[in-house]
Amino acid sequence: MDTQTIVILDFGSQYTQLIARRIRELNVFSVVLPCTADLAEIQKHKPFGIILSGGPSSVYDLDAPAADARLLELGPPILGICYGLHFIVHHLGGKVLSAPKREYGHAEVTIEDGSTPLFAGLPSTMQVWMSHGDEAIELPGGFHRAAVSSNALAAIANEERRIWAVQFHPEVHHTPLGPQLIKNFVFGICGAAGDWTPAHFIEATVASIRAKVGSDHVICGLSGGVDSSVAAMLVHKAIGSQLTCIFVNNGVLRKNEFAQVQKNLRDKLGLNVVAVDATERFLAQLAGVTDPETKRKRIGAEFIAVFDDEATRIAKETGGVDWLVQGTLYPDVIESSSVKGPSQTIKSHHNVGGLPDHMKLKLIEPLRDLFKDEVRRIGRDMGMPEEILGRQPFPGPGLAVRILGEVTRERVALLQEADEIVVSEIKAAGLYSKIWQSFAVLLPVMSVGVMGDQRTYAYTAAVRAVHSEDGMTADWTPLPYDVLKRISSRMVNEVRGINRVVYDITSKPPGTIEWE
Ligand code: XMP
Repeated sequence: MDTQTIVILDFGSQYTQLIARRIRELNVFSVVLPCTADLAEIQKHKPFGIILSGGPSSVYDLDAPAADARLLELGPPILGICYGLHFIVHHLGGKVLSAPKREYGHAEVTIEDGSTPLFAGLPSTMQVWMSHGDEAIELPGGFHRAAVSSNALAAIANEERRIWAVQFHPEVHHTPLGPQLIKNFVFGICGAAGDWTPAHFIEATVASIRAKVGSDHVICGLSGGVDSSVAAMLVHKAIGSQLTCIFVNNGVLRKNEFAQVQKNLRDKLGLNVVAVDATERFLAQLAGVTDPETKRKRIGAEFIAVFDDEATRIAKETGGVDWLVQGTLYPDVIESSSVKGPSQTIKSHHNVGGLPDHMKLKLIEPLRDLFKDEVRRIGRDMGMPEEILGRQPFPGPGLAVRILGEVTRERVALLQEADEIVVSEIKAAGLYSKIWQSFAVLLPVMSVGVMGDQRTYAYTAAVRAVHSEDGMTADWTPLPYDVLKRISSRMVNEVRGINRVVYDITSKPPGTIEWE
Protein backbone atom coordinates (compact mmCIF):
# COMPACT_ATOMS: atom_id res chain seq x y z
CA MET A 1 0.00 0.00 0.00
CA ASP A 2 1.25 3.50 -0.80
CA THR A 3 2.05 5.79 2.09
CA GLN A 4 -0.63 8.49 2.29
CA THR A 5 1.21 11.74 1.69
CA ILE A 6 0.42 15.40 2.12
CA VAL A 7 2.59 17.48 -0.23
CA ILE A 8 3.70 20.87 1.06
CA LEU A 9 4.88 23.31 -1.57
CA ASP A 10 7.51 25.63 -0.14
CA PHE A 11 7.16 29.26 -1.16
CA GLY A 12 10.04 30.23 1.13
CA SER A 13 8.43 30.68 4.54
CA GLN A 14 10.55 30.23 7.64
CA TYR A 15 7.70 28.01 8.94
CA THR A 16 7.47 25.50 6.10
CA GLN A 17 9.25 22.70 7.96
CA LEU A 18 6.92 23.29 10.90
CA ILE A 19 3.90 22.53 8.70
CA ALA A 20 5.51 19.20 7.79
CA ARG A 21 6.16 18.40 11.42
CA ARG A 22 2.64 19.26 12.57
CA ILE A 23 1.23 16.86 10.00
CA ARG A 24 3.66 14.09 10.86
CA GLU A 25 2.74 14.51 14.53
CA LEU A 26 -0.70 13.34 13.42
CA ASN A 27 0.91 10.15 12.06
CA VAL A 28 0.39 11.31 8.49
CA PHE A 29 3.41 11.46 6.17
CA SER A 30 4.26 14.78 4.56
CA VAL A 31 6.91 15.94 2.12
CA VAL A 32 8.17 19.42 1.39
CA LEU A 33 8.82 20.20 -2.28
CA PRO A 34 10.08 23.48 -3.70
CA CYS A 35 7.10 25.45 -5.04
CA THR A 36 8.73 25.25 -8.46
CA ALA A 37 8.43 21.43 -8.54
CA ASP A 38 6.79 20.38 -11.79
CA LEU A 39 3.37 18.79 -11.79
CA ALA A 40 4.74 15.32 -12.53
CA GLU A 41 7.00 15.54 -9.50
CA ILE A 42 4.06 16.52 -7.30
CA GLN A 43 1.92 13.72 -8.68
CA LYS A 44 4.65 11.17 -8.14
CA HIS A 45 3.86 11.44 -4.43
CA LYS A 46 0.14 10.70 -5.07
CA PRO A 47 -0.80 13.53 -2.71
CA PHE A 48 -3.78 13.10 -0.42
CA GLY A 49 -3.77 16.85 0.03
CA ILE A 50 -1.61 19.81 -0.98
CA ILE A 51 -0.57 22.69 1.24
CA LEU A 52 0.83 25.92 -0.16
CA SER A 53 3.15 27.50 2.39
CA GLY A 54 3.71 31.12 3.23
CA GLY A 55 6.57 33.06 1.73
CA PRO A 56 8.25 36.44 1.72
CA SER A 57 7.25 37.47 -1.81
CA SER A 58 4.29 39.31 -3.22
CA VAL A 59 2.38 37.65 -6.08
CA TYR A 60 3.13 40.77 -8.12
CA ASP A 61 6.90 40.65 -7.58
CA LEU A 62 8.87 40.15 -10.77
CA ASP A 63 10.88 37.52 -8.98
CA ALA A 64 7.87 35.88 -7.31
CA PRO A 65 8.47 32.10 -7.23
CA ALA A 66 7.60 30.54 -10.56
CA ALA A 67 5.12 27.94 -9.39
CA ASP A 68 2.85 26.31 -11.98
CA ALA A 69 -0.71 27.52 -11.26
CA ARG A 70 -2.10 24.33 -12.80
CA LEU A 71 -1.27 22.67 -9.50
CA LEU A 72 -4.58 24.15 -8.33
CA GLU A 73 -6.32 21.79 -10.78
CA LEU A 74 -4.62 18.58 -9.74
CA GLY A 75 -7.57 17.30 -7.75
CA PRO A 76 -6.56 16.71 -4.13
CA PRO A 77 -7.85 19.19 -1.53
CA ILE A 78 -5.72 22.33 -1.15
CA LEU A 79 -4.92 24.49 1.85
CA GLY A 80 -3.16 27.80 1.25
CA ILE A 81 -1.37 29.54 4.10
CA CYS A 82 -0.57 33.27 3.89
CA TYR A 83 1.28 33.60 0.56
CA GLY A 84 -0.52 30.39 -0.39
CA LEU A 85 -3.80 32.29 -0.02
CA HIS A 86 -2.57 35.11 -2.24
CA PHE A 87 -1.34 32.61 -4.82
CA ILE A 88 -4.78 30.98 -4.98
CA VAL A 89 -6.66 34.29 -5.17
CA HIS A 90 -4.31 35.75 -7.76
CA HIS A 91 -4.25 32.75 -10.08
CA LEU A 92 -7.96 31.96 -9.93
CA GLY A 93 -9.06 35.44 -10.98
CA GLY A 94 -9.32 37.43 -7.73
CA LYS A 95 -7.35 40.49 -6.74
CA VAL A 96 -4.55 40.92 -4.23
CA LEU A 97 -3.53 44.29 -2.85
CA SER A 98 0.20 44.58 -2.66
CA ALA A 99 1.86 45.87 0.53
CA PRO A 100 5.50 46.93 0.90
CA LYS A 101 6.46 44.32 3.48
CA ARG A 102 5.11 41.48 5.55
CA GLU A 103 4.81 41.66 9.34
CA TYR A 104 3.65 39.19 11.94
CA GLY A 105 1.61 39.62 15.09
CA HIS A 106 -1.04 38.25 17.42
CA ALA A 107 -4.61 38.71 16.25
CA GLU A 108 -8.09 37.50 17.01
CA VAL A 109 -10.12 36.05 14.18
CA THR A 110 -13.84 35.58 13.97
CA ILE A 111 -15.10 32.59 12.07
CA GLU A 112 -17.99 33.60 9.84
CA ASP A 113 -18.65 30.24 8.27
CA GLY A 114 -18.53 27.67 11.04
CA SER A 115 -19.99 25.06 8.70
CA THR A 116 -16.89 24.82 6.53
CA PRO A 117 -15.06 21.60 7.51
CA LEU A 118 -11.76 23.46 8.02
CA PHE A 119 -13.22 25.05 11.14
CA ALA A 120 -15.05 21.98 12.53
CA GLY A 121 -14.97 21.94 16.33
CA LEU A 122 -13.36 25.37 16.58
CA PRO A 123 -14.88 28.25 18.60
CA SER A 124 -16.28 31.27 16.77
CA THR A 125 -13.33 33.44 17.78
CA MET A 126 -9.72 32.37 18.26
CA GLN A 127 -6.22 33.71 18.75
CA VAL A 128 -3.89 33.36 15.78
CA TRP A 129 -0.44 34.38 14.60
CA MET A 130 -1.30 36.67 11.73
CA SER A 131 0.81 37.65 8.81
CA HIS A 132 0.10 41.20 7.70
CA GLY A 133 1.16 42.18 4.23
CA ASP A 134 -0.56 41.64 0.91
CA GLU A 135 -4.30 41.35 1.21
CA ALA A 136 -6.96 39.67 -0.93
CA ILE A 137 -9.48 42.38 -1.79
CA GLU A 138 -11.51 40.54 -4.40
CA LEU A 139 -12.20 36.80 -4.20
CA PRO A 140 -12.22 34.53 -7.26
CA GLY A 141 -15.60 33.13 -8.37
CA GLY A 142 -16.96 30.33 -6.18
CA PHE A 143 -15.00 31.44 -3.09
CA HIS A 144 -16.49 32.96 0.02
CA ARG A 145 -15.04 34.63 3.09
CA ALA A 146 -14.91 32.17 5.98
CA ALA A 147 -13.16 34.21 8.69
CA VAL A 148 -12.05 37.79 9.39
CA SER A 149 -9.73 39.54 11.80
CA SER A 150 -10.46 43.03 13.12
CA ASN A 151 -9.12 44.66 9.99
CA ALA A 152 -8.56 41.99 7.36
CA LEU A 153 -9.72 38.85 5.68
CA ALA A 154 -8.55 35.76 7.60
CA ALA A 155 -9.83 32.75 5.64
CA ILE A 156 -11.54 31.80 2.39
CA ALA A 157 -13.22 28.63 1.21
CA ASN A 158 -14.53 26.99 -1.93
CA GLU A 159 -16.05 23.68 -0.87
CA GLU A 160 -16.94 22.68 -4.40
CA ARG A 161 -13.38 22.94 -5.65
CA ARG A 162 -12.10 21.72 -2.29
CA ILE A 163 -9.77 24.70 -1.83
CA TRP A 164 -9.33 26.51 1.50
CA ALA A 165 -6.88 29.20 2.55
CA VAL A 166 -5.97 31.15 5.66
CA GLN A 167 -4.09 34.42 6.05
CA PHE A 168 -2.69 33.38 9.47
CA HIS A 169 -0.24 30.62 10.43
CA PRO A 170 -1.91 27.55 11.98
CA GLU A 171 1.44 25.73 12.20
CA VAL A 172 3.07 27.97 14.83
CA HIS A 173 2.64 27.80 18.60
CA HIS A 174 1.23 31.33 18.69
CA THR A 175 -1.91 29.90 17.08
CA PRO A 176 -3.02 27.67 19.98
CA LEU A 177 -5.87 26.00 18.06
CA GLY A 178 -3.79 25.64 14.89
CA PRO A 179 -3.27 21.89 15.40
CA GLN A 180 -7.07 21.37 15.33
CA LEU A 181 -7.31 23.28 12.05
CA ILE A 182 -4.52 21.20 10.52
CA LYS A 183 -6.19 18.07 11.84
CA ASN A 184 -9.46 19.15 10.20
CA PHE A 185 -7.68 19.54 6.88
CA VAL A 186 -5.70 16.32 7.04
CA PHE A 187 -8.39 14.02 8.43
CA GLY A 188 -11.76 15.76 7.90
CA ILE A 189 -11.06 17.12 4.42
CA CYS A 190 -8.34 14.88 2.95
CA GLY A 191 -9.53 11.74 4.72
CA ALA A 192 -6.09 10.52 5.77
CA ALA A 193 -5.99 7.44 7.99
CA GLY A 194 -3.16 8.49 10.34
CA ASP A 195 -1.32 5.21 9.97
CA TRP A 196 2.20 6.58 9.48
CA THR A 197 3.44 5.30 12.83
CA PRO A 198 7.00 4.34 13.83
CA ALA A 199 6.04 0.68 13.40
CA HIS A 200 4.72 1.37 9.89
CA PHE A 201 7.84 3.34 8.97
CA ILE A 202 10.17 0.63 10.27
CA GLU A 203 8.31 -2.13 8.47
CA ALA A 204 8.21 -0.24 5.16
CA THR A 205 11.85 0.86 5.39
CA VAL A 206 13.12 -2.58 6.30
CA ALA A 207 11.20 -4.12 3.39
CA SER A 208 12.54 -1.57 0.93
CA ILE A 209 16.15 -1.96 2.08
CA ARG A 210 15.83 -5.72 1.77
CA ALA A 211 14.45 -5.46 -1.75
CA LYS A 212 17.10 -2.96 -2.80
CA VAL A 213 20.14 -4.72 -1.36
CA GLY A 214 19.33 -8.35 -2.17
CA SER A 215 22.38 -10.41 -1.24
CA ASP A 216 24.89 -7.52 -1.54
CA HIS A 217 27.19 -6.43 1.26
CA VAL A 218 26.75 -3.08 3.00
CA ILE A 219 29.02 -0.95 5.17
CA CYS A 220 28.17 1.85 7.57
CA GLY A 221 30.35 4.34 9.43
CA LEU A 222 29.25 4.67 13.05
CA SER A 223 29.93 7.83 15.05
CA GLY A 224 28.17 6.76 18.23
CA GLY A 225 25.56 9.47 17.61
CA VAL A 226 21.82 9.11 17.15
CA ASP A 227 21.62 9.30 13.37
CA SER A 228 24.26 6.80 12.35
CA SER A 229 23.17 4.37 15.09
CA VAL A 230 19.49 4.42 14.13
CA ALA A 231 20.34 4.20 10.41
CA ALA A 232 22.59 1.20 11.09
CA MET A 233 19.92 -0.45 13.25
CA LEU A 234 17.31 -0.19 10.48
CA VAL A 235 19.68 -1.74 7.96
CA HIS A 236 20.67 -4.40 10.48
CA LYS A 237 17.02 -5.29 10.95
CA ALA A 238 16.68 -5.64 7.19
CA ILE A 239 19.78 -7.62 6.28
CA GLY A 240 21.52 -8.71 9.51
CA SER A 241 25.04 -10.01 8.91
CA GLN A 242 25.24 -8.51 5.40
CA LEU A 243 25.92 -5.21 7.17
CA THR A 244 29.31 -4.37 8.65
CA CYS A 245 29.58 -1.21 10.73
CA ILE A 246 32.91 0.56 11.03
CA PHE A 247 33.59 2.53 14.19
CA VAL A 248 36.85 4.47 14.23
CA ASN A 249 38.63 5.72 17.33
CA ASN A 250 40.18 8.93 16.07
CA GLY A 251 41.93 9.51 19.38
CA VAL A 252 39.74 12.52 20.17
CA LEU A 253 36.60 10.75 21.40
CA ARG A 254 35.22 11.39 24.88
CA LYS A 255 36.32 9.38 27.89
CA ASN A 256 35.33 5.69 27.56
CA GLU A 257 33.38 6.40 24.40
CA PHE A 258 35.22 3.89 22.23
CA ALA A 259 34.32 1.07 24.64
CA GLN A 260 30.83 2.37 25.40
CA VAL A 261 29.67 2.58 21.80
CA GLN A 262 30.87 -0.94 21.12
CA LYS A 263 29.07 -2.16 24.20
CA ASN A 264 25.80 -0.50 23.24
CA LEU A 265 25.73 -1.35 19.56
CA ARG A 266 27.50 -4.69 19.41
CA ASP A 267 26.77 -6.24 22.77
CA LYS A 268 23.30 -4.87 23.47
CA LEU A 269 21.88 -4.51 19.97
CA GLY A 270 23.78 -7.21 18.14
CA LEU A 271 25.18 -5.10 15.30
CA ASN A 272 28.20 -6.38 13.46
CA VAL A 273 30.73 -3.71 14.50
CA VAL A 274 34.36 -3.53 13.43
CA ALA A 275 36.06 -1.18 15.89
CA VAL A 276 39.31 0.32 14.66
CA ASP A 277 41.62 2.06 17.10
CA ALA A 278 43.44 4.53 14.86
CA THR A 279 44.49 6.89 17.67
CA GLU A 280 48.15 6.82 16.64
CA ARG A 281 47.41 7.66 13.02
CA PHE A 282 45.25 10.64 13.95
CA LEU A 283 47.57 12.02 16.64
CA ALA A 284 50.47 11.82 14.19
CA GLN A 285 48.44 13.90 11.72
CA LEU A 286 47.66 16.45 14.42
CA ALA A 287 51.19 16.86 15.76
CA GLY A 288 52.28 20.49 15.62
CA VAL A 289 48.97 21.68 14.09
CA THR A 290 47.27 24.66 15.72
CA ASP A 291 45.13 26.09 12.93
CA PRO A 292 41.46 25.01 13.37
CA GLU A 293 40.73 24.45 9.69
CA THR A 294 43.93 22.42 9.22
CA LYS A 295 42.91 20.24 12.17
CA ARG A 296 39.50 19.64 10.67
CA LYS A 297 40.91 18.87 7.21
CA ARG A 298 43.56 16.48 8.53
CA ILE A 299 41.02 14.62 10.68
CA GLY A 300 38.58 14.44 7.78
CA ALA A 301 41.20 13.14 5.37
CA GLU A 302 42.58 10.62 7.87
CA PHE A 303 39.08 9.38 8.63
CA ILE A 304 38.48 8.69 4.98
CA ALA A 305 41.85 6.94 4.69
CA VAL A 306 41.11 4.68 7.69
CA PHE A 307 37.58 4.02 6.51
CA ASP A 308 38.85 3.16 3.04
CA ASP A 309 41.42 0.71 4.45
CA GLU A 310 38.75 -1.06 6.47
CA ALA A 311 36.25 -1.10 3.64
CA THR A 312 38.86 -2.60 1.32
CA ARG A 313 39.62 -5.28 3.88
CA ILE A 314 35.91 -6.05 4.40
CA ALA A 315 35.39 -6.16 0.64
CA LYS A 316 38.12 -8.81 0.34
CA GLU A 317 36.54 -10.88 3.09
CA THR A 318 32.98 -10.65 1.85
CA GLY A 319 33.62 -10.77 -1.87
CA GLY A 320 32.79 -7.09 -2.45
CA VAL A 321 31.00 -4.16 -0.86
CA ASP A 322 28.31 -2.38 -2.87
CA TRP A 323 26.44 -0.09 -0.51
CA LEU A 324 27.16 2.58 2.06
CA VAL A 325 24.67 3.61 4.75
CA GLN A 326 24.40 7.31 5.52
CA GLY A 327 22.42 9.03 8.25
CA THR A 328 21.23 11.94 6.09
CA LEU A 329 18.19 13.65 7.64
CA TYR A 330 15.24 15.41 6.02
CA PRO A 331 16.32 18.99 6.83
CA ASP A 332 19.54 18.36 4.81
CA VAL A 333 17.47 17.04 1.92
CA ILE A 334 15.16 20.07 1.96
CA GLU A 335 18.12 22.41 2.37
CA SER A 336 19.94 21.02 -0.64
CA SER A 337 16.85 21.11 -2.87
CA SER A 338 15.72 24.59 -1.81
CA VAL A 339 16.14 27.66 -3.93
CA LYS A 340 18.39 29.46 -1.45
CA GLY A 341 21.90 30.40 -2.50
CA PRO A 342 25.01 28.79 -1.10
CA SER A 343 25.96 30.10 2.33
CA GLN A 344 29.48 30.94 3.30
CA THR A 345 31.52 28.15 4.87
CA ILE A 346 32.19 29.17 8.47
CA LYS A 347 33.68 25.81 9.42
CA SER A 348 34.24 22.82 7.19
CA HIS A 349 32.29 19.78 8.41
CA HIS A 350 33.36 16.32 7.49
CA ASN A 351 31.33 13.21 6.92
CA VAL A 352 31.68 10.00 4.99
CA GLY A 353 30.34 11.70 1.85
CA GLY A 354 33.80 12.32 0.45
CA LEU A 355 34.86 8.73 -0.11
CA PRO A 356 37.39 8.12 -2.87
CA ASP A 357 35.99 7.41 -6.33
CA HIS A 358 37.38 3.90 -6.54
CA MET A 359 34.93 2.83 -3.84
CA LYS A 360 31.92 3.74 -6.01
CA LEU A 361 29.36 2.77 -3.38
CA LYS A 362 25.64 3.13 -3.81
CA LEU A 363 23.91 4.96 -0.97
CA ILE A 364 21.29 3.76 1.48
CA GLU A 365 19.82 6.70 3.40
CA PRO A 366 17.09 5.24 5.59
CA LEU A 367 16.50 8.50 7.51
CA ARG A 368 16.30 10.90 4.59
CA ASP A 369 12.56 11.42 5.16
CA LEU A 370 12.83 12.07 8.89
CA PHE A 371 13.31 14.96 11.27
CA LYS A 372 15.63 14.47 14.25
CA ASP A 373 12.87 13.88 16.82
CA GLU A 374 11.31 11.32 14.48
CA VAL A 375 14.65 9.49 14.30
CA ARG A 376 14.53 9.21 18.09
CA ARG A 377 10.96 7.90 17.99
CA ILE A 378 11.97 5.25 15.47
CA GLY A 379 15.00 4.32 17.59
CA ARG A 380 12.82 4.00 20.69
CA ASP A 381 10.41 1.79 18.83
CA MET A 382 13.31 -0.51 17.89
CA GLY A 383 14.27 -0.76 21.57
CA MET A 384 17.50 1.24 21.34
CA PRO A 385 18.89 2.53 24.66
CA GLU A 386 18.19 6.10 25.75
CA GLU A 387 21.95 6.55 26.19
CA ILE A 388 22.27 6.50 22.39
CA LEU A 389 19.00 8.23 21.50
CA GLY A 390 19.34 11.07 24.00
CA ARG A 391 22.98 11.81 23.32
CA GLN A 392 23.86 15.45 22.76
CA PRO A 393 25.45 16.19 19.37
CA PHE A 394 29.21 15.68 19.21
CA PRO A 395 31.30 17.05 16.33
CA GLY A 396 33.09 14.70 13.93
CA PRO A 397 36.53 16.21 14.72
CA GLY A 398 35.72 15.52 18.37
CA LEU A 399 37.78 16.95 21.19
CA ALA A 400 40.33 18.26 18.70
CA VAL A 401 38.17 21.36 18.11
CA ARG A 402 37.81 21.80 21.87
CA ILE A 403 41.55 21.76 22.52
CA LEU A 404 42.78 25.14 21.43
CA GLY A 405 46.31 25.06 20.13
CA GLU A 406 48.13 21.80 19.51
CA VAL A 407 46.36 18.50 20.19
CA THR A 408 48.60 16.18 22.20
CA ARG A 409 47.90 12.92 23.97
CA GLU A 410 48.26 14.64 27.38
CA ARG A 411 45.87 17.42 26.47
CA VAL A 412 43.29 14.95 25.14
CA ALA A 413 43.49 13.05 28.44
CA LEU A 414 43.03 16.29 30.42
CA LEU A 415 40.03 17.36 28.40
CA GLN A 416 38.47 13.89 28.58
CA GLU A 417 38.54 14.14 32.39
CA ALA A 418 37.22 17.70 32.44
CA ASP A 419 34.48 16.87 29.92
CA GLU A 420 33.41 13.83 31.89
CA ILE A 421 32.92 16.05 34.96
CA VAL A 422 30.75 18.54 33.05
CA VAL A 423 28.60 15.79 31.55
CA SER A 424 28.16 13.85 34.77
CA GLU A 425 27.25 16.93 36.81
CA ILE A 426 24.78 18.11 34.19
CA LYS A 427 23.23 14.65 34.14
CA ALA A 428 23.10 14.52 37.95
CA ALA A 429 21.25 17.86 37.94
CA GLY A 430 18.68 16.39 35.52
CA LEU A 431 19.63 18.93 32.84
CA TYR A 432 21.33 16.78 30.19
CA SER A 433 18.30 16.24 27.97
CA LYS A 434 17.14 19.85 28.35
CA ILE A 435 20.38 21.29 27.00
CA TRP A 436 21.45 21.10 23.36
CA GLN A 437 25.16 20.72 24.18
CA SER A 438 27.23 20.99 27.34
CA PHE A 439 30.98 20.40 27.40
CA ALA A 440 34.42 21.58 28.45
CA VAL A 441 37.03 23.32 26.31
CA LEU A 442 40.75 23.22 27.09
CA LEU A 443 42.48 26.57 26.67
CA PRO A 444 46.21 26.87 26.13
CA VAL A 445 46.28 29.52 28.82
CA MET A 446 48.35 28.85 31.92
CA SER A 447 47.71 30.75 35.10
CA VAL A 448 48.89 30.77 38.67
CA GLY A 449 46.84 29.20 41.45
CA VAL A 450 47.28 27.83 44.91
CA MET A 451 46.46 24.31 46.02
CA GLY A 452 47.02 23.56 49.70
CA ASP A 453 50.25 25.43 50.36
CA GLN A 454 51.56 24.82 46.87
CA ARG A 455 51.74 27.28 44.01
CA THR A 456 50.25 25.82 40.83
CA TYR A 457 50.75 26.87 37.25
CA ALA A 458 48.31 25.05 35.02
CA TYR A 459 45.72 25.15 32.20
CA THR A 460 42.35 26.88 32.07
CA ALA A 461 39.15 25.04 31.17
CA ALA A 462 36.07 26.77 29.79
CA VAL A 463 32.60 25.35 30.40
CA ARG A 464 30.10 25.75 27.56
CA ALA A 465 26.36 25.00 27.71
CA VAL A 466 23.91 26.13 25.05
CA HIS A 467 20.25 25.89 24.14
CA SER A 468 19.48 25.46 20.47
CA GLU A 469 16.82 24.11 18.12
CA ASP A 470 19.10 22.93 15.37
CA GLY A 471 22.64 24.16 16.04
CA MET A 472 22.25 27.02 13.55
CA THR A 473 21.68 29.57 16.30
CA ALA A 474 22.16 29.08 20.03
CA ASP A 475 21.78 30.85 23.36
CA TRP A 476 24.19 30.27 26.21
CA THR A 477 22.45 28.46 29.05
CA PRO A 478 22.34 30.08 32.51
CA LEU A 479 23.36 26.93 34.41
CA PRO A 480 22.38 27.04 38.10
CA TYR A 481 25.18 28.40 40.30
CA ASP A 482 25.36 25.26 42.39
CA VAL A 483 25.95 23.15 39.26
CA LEU A 484 28.68 25.52 38.09
CA LYS A 485 30.19 25.47 41.55
CA ARG A 486 30.36 21.66 41.64
CA ILE A 487 31.82 21.50 38.12
CA SER A 488 34.47 24.07 38.96
CA SER A 489 35.45 22.59 42.26
CA ARG A 490 35.61 19.03 40.90
CA MET A 491 37.66 20.06 37.87
CA VAL A 492 40.27 21.90 39.87
CA ASN A 493 40.46 19.19 42.52
CA GLU A 494 40.25 16.10 40.33
CA VAL A 495 41.98 17.05 37.10
CA ARG A 496 45.64 17.58 37.74
CA GLY A 497 46.73 20.10 35.13
CA ILE A 498 43.69 22.40 35.31
CA ASN A 499 43.63 25.07 38.00
CA ARG A 500 41.13 27.60 36.66
CA VAL A 501 37.61 27.30 35.25
CA VAL A 502 35.72 29.97 33.31
CA TYR A 503 32.16 30.01 31.92
CA ASP A 504 31.45 30.86 28.29
CA ILE A 505 28.56 33.34 28.03
CA THR A 506 28.60 33.84 24.27
CA SER A 507 25.55 33.12 22.10
CA LYS A 508 25.57 32.12 18.43
CA PRO A 509 25.76 34.38 16.54
CA PRO A 510 28.15 36.11 17.05
CA GLY A 511 29.99 33.13 18.62
CA THR A 512 29.85 29.57 17.34
CA ILE A 513 29.01 26.60 19.56
CA GLU A 514 32.40 24.93 19.23
CA TRP A 515 35.42 27.08 19.91
CA GLU A 516 37.17 26.07 16.68
P1 XMP B 1 29.26 25.52 15.37
O1 XMP B 1 30.52 25.40 16.17
O2 XMP B 1 29.49 25.68 13.91
O3 XMP B 1 28.52 24.13 15.53
O4 XMP B 1 28.33 26.56 15.94
C1 XMP B 1 27.17 23.89 15.18
C2 XMP B 1 26.85 22.45 15.49
O5 XMP B 1 27.60 21.58 14.63
C3 XMP B 1 28.44 20.72 15.38
N1 XMP B 1 29.70 20.61 14.62
C4 XMP B 1 30.05 19.57 13.87
N2 XMP B 1 29.44 18.39 13.64
N3 XMP B 1 31.22 17.71 12.24
C5 XMP B 1 30.04 17.47 12.85
O6 XMP B 1 29.51 16.38 12.66
C6 XMP B 1 31.89 18.88 12.41
O7 XMP B 1 32.95 19.09 11.86
C7 XMP B 1 31.27 19.84 13.28
N4 XMP B 1 31.62 21.09 13.70
C8 XMP B 1 30.65 21.55 14.50
C9 XMP B 1 28.59 21.40 16.72
O8 XMP B 1 28.92 20.46 17.74
C10 XMP B 1 27.25 22.02 16.91
O9 XMP B 1 26.27 21.09 17.33
